[in-house]
Amino acid sequence: MELISTEDVSLRIESLEASHSVASRVMSLVERDDVGARELSIVISADPVLVYRIMQMANSAFYGTGGRVRELRVAIAIIGFQAVKSLSLTAVIEGAGSVTPQDWQHSISSAVAASEVARRLGADQQLAFSVGLLHDIGRAVMSSLNPAGSASITRLERSALTAAAEREMLVAEREAFGINHAVLGADVLGYWNFSPDIVQAVASHHPQKGSISRLHGAIVDGDRIARLIESDVPVTDLAESEILLPQYVHPTDLPDFVKVVQAKATAMLHDLFS
Ligand SMILES: [Fe+2]
Ligand SMILES: [Fe+2]
Repeated sequence: MELISTEDVSLRIESLEASHSVASRVMSLVERDDVGARELSIVISADPVLVYRIMQMANSAFYGTGGRVRELRVAIAIIGFQAVKSLSLTAVIEGAGSVTPQDWQHSISSAVAASEVARRLGADQQLAFSVGLLHDIGRAVMSSLNPAGSASITRLERSALTAAAEREMLVAEREAFGINHAVLGADVLGYWNFSPDIVQAVASHHPQKGSISRLHGAIVDGDRIARLIESDVPVTDLAESEILLPQYVHPTDLPDFVKVVQAKATAMLHDLFS
């Protein structure tokens, strides 16, 4: 299999950026202090897919708005600038046809779970949701560069429930591509000026041990909970198993926690894609 070089990634980002000028413009505007929801909504209104996603997300049950948000400016204020930036980056990468419905399901479940964990940790829930949405963006870039090669590793990651299986997946990825998707994702986020705490949380979302920040802890747990949900492994009696459990949800709370995440994620997926 061909290794992925820094040049490949730069060329890919440049080609995606050129073909998605609205979303790339939104990503740089979000960082400016003098740009508010009104200015952002004027730029975003040129991209119907992005408008639709932001409106649907703001109207989903997750934000408790009762489906009453009618203005894009209000929707942006509700979901927050970081979520707008995450959706914009996903739109750019999606342009390469590398974001599948399963990827969306994993992103939304991870984002909802990360936000719930952040609430327990007293961390920024909106930020955890936004970073959860794009924690695997490196994998999407990888599959846009090499669709056939990355499909088997994506399957390996989704079924990696133990520390050993997770390590095996990262080794397989490095051997195949010369880089793992977490580091690649962090490079992509760095290119688009995401803040250092976000870049760091994504770079280490498959850690060997511990957390480096509350945001990082929420992202790692969100990803683990999403993989547990996708695996269909019963979440009762996992305490003694080898399965990697979230660090900030007690095993006895896990079944109820998973139910809440599943319900919210399913509702959001329905609102976004039906
Ligand atoms: Fe990952
Ligand atoms: Fe993930």
